[in-house]
Amino acid sequence: MQNKAKVAVLISGRGGNLRALLEATKDKTFPVEICLVISNKADAYGLKHAEEFNIPSFVIDHKGFSNRQEFDDKIDKKLEEYNIDIVCLAGFMRLLTANFTEKWQGRIINIHPSLLPSFKGANAIEQAFKAGVKITGCTVHYVTAQMDEGPIIVQESVRIDQNDNLETLSSKIAKKEHIAYVQALRIVANKFLLQ
Ligand code: GRF
Repeated sequence: MQNKAKVAVLISGRGGNLRALLEATKDKTFPVEICLVISNKADAYGLKHAEEFNIPSFVIDHKGFSNRQEFDDKIDKKLEEYNIDIVCLAGFMRLLTANFTEKWQGRIINIHPSLLPSFKGANAIEQAFKAGVKITGCTVHYVTAQMDEGPIIVQESVRIDQNDNLETLSSKIAKKEHIAYVQALRIVANKFLLQ
């Protein structure tokens, strides 16, 4: 019986969440094997984390495709090539087509830096900060065809203090994200393995 879910992580940048997931795999009870990292940006810092952990990584630049479907098909082909069970979006800055999200439904998750359904879209941290809310946070959710929607798996809250600025708030949220993503992936992987 399979005892680890095969996971791919899709990134576009820094890769802090990727790093947290990679670190989590050092725990033998974490039901996940990270088998593949894909970035749509050649200069994504996160690719260095993949290299350090000896995980195969590929750059699939969306600019090389004439439409979203072709780009998504290329990603899907890579996922199939590596027999991936679960896809984690971790700062992946591309919208995926409905064909793709429907195919992976229940096996594709995303992290967003707000307490959804508040502050969807880009600049969620700034949106919350500017709105003057006193509590924000992060959400890990299943991905559906609609951006930043889909059933919520885990949320973590973060208090916005009077002396916080965008930078301090971003780093507080990032720390909570790393906890939330590991927790959510454990839930999703265990569920997958029980199927
Ligand atoms: C995170 O804030 C995540 O919620 C958002 O993009 C950011 C990615 O950060 N989707 P990192 O690349 O994982 O450090």
